[in-house]
Amino acid sequence: MVTGGAGYIGAHVVQALRRDGHDVAVIDDLSTGSRDRLTNDTPLFPCSVLDTELVTDSLRAHGSELVVHVAAKKAVEQSIAEPLMYYRENVIGMHSVLTAMVQAGTRKMLFSSSAAVYGTSTGDLVDEQADTAPASPYGWTKLMCEQMIRDTAVAAGLDWMALRYFNVAGAADPGLADRGENNLIPKVFRAICSGVPPQIFGDSYPTRDGTCIRDYIHVADVADAHAAAVRGMSGGAPSAIYNIGTGSGTSVLEVMHTARRITGRDFDWDVRPPRAGDSPAVVADAAKIRAGLGWESRYDLDDIIGSAWQSWSSRIEIPLAR
Ligand SMILES: NC(=O)c1ccc[n+]([C@@H]2O[C@H](COP(=O)([O-])OP(=O)(O)OC[C@H]3O[C@@H](n4cnc5c(N)ncnc54)[C@H](O)[C@@H]3O)[C@@H](O)[C@H]2O)c1
Repeated sequence: MVTGGAGYIGAHVVQALRRDGHDVAVIDDLSTGSRDRLTNDTPLFPCSVLDTELVTDSLRAHGSELVVHVAAKKAVEQSIAEPLMYYRENVIGMHSVLTAMVQAGTRKMLFSSSAAVYGTSTGDLVDEQADTAPASPYGWTKLMCEQMIRDTAVAAGLDWMALRYFNVAGAADPGLADRGENNLIPKVFRAICSGVPPQIFGDSYPTRDGTCIRDYIHVADVADAHAAAVRGMSGGAPSAIYNIGTGSGTSVLEVMHTARRITGRDFDWDVRPPRAGDSPAVVADAAKIRAGLGWESRYDLDDIIGSAWQSWSSRIEIPLAR
């Protein structure tokens, strides 16, 4: 059962698990997701994860052996403005899903966590042992969820894995693309199309070109990591937390130059003051999952921006190049 399977990452996960031969169903309240991301033969239980009885019934009806809990709210800025909504949807949501799993006898949980649990006080390469110090309510919800799984697993005998994604982008096909516009790459595309220069926050960080460095990971790689985790859990791999990143960082300016080259649009950017709480560099150390589950990323920044641009341009009328 994939909760949030009608969303951007969830739909890619559903596709990857079906490719591996799993009989996948989805629970999604369609608050930010869309039915059209799922094939017609994918069963959808259209309810909130907060409705414990409906989640229990859905797990029983589908005979689910494993839950991939992807459903959540994910916008950092919104979580600062509306923390209670984030604690309800993400933390009480996790409480509800775990309660339903215990009631339905579903014994395996794979959780969508986030690099946001590390906060900003990290060095360049972040491994799973790094201190956790979330810088937003969103990051705290993910850390609390990990703790709730750990404690429940001991008491109820669950097997679990938590995957801490870094900066997810790109699309495996245009229909599955991210339709939100909170991340850097969609923001750049929107700026290209409107003719308004994209904003860069800070250009004097202690990095190779002064702009922030992040680890951009293709969503198809993220989906494959879930398939590897499910294979691992089915084969008895121990419960664990894994980073999901490429292990290599890209600066904001490098994203700009790559976007110029891939889109063929010549645009400038606006340098603004640095934002509070932005870390100079956050890059995953992805060695643990390579050793533990044999997964590593396959796609690079060109693939990420190319696939994202293809999806973007297929649904938006783009003005002629200037
Ligand atoms: N996008 C990223 O870069 C990123 C990075 C790290 C972690 N994550 C995590 O990955 C997960 C998926 O993110 P996404 O980018 O696909 O977001 P998304 O908004 O596209 O997908 C979330 C899905 O969950 C559903 N949903 C939300 N609340 C629900 C509820 N109460 N009950 C049932 N369904 C509900 C939505 O309708 C949507 O289909 C989230 O848990 C997010 O925190 C995302």
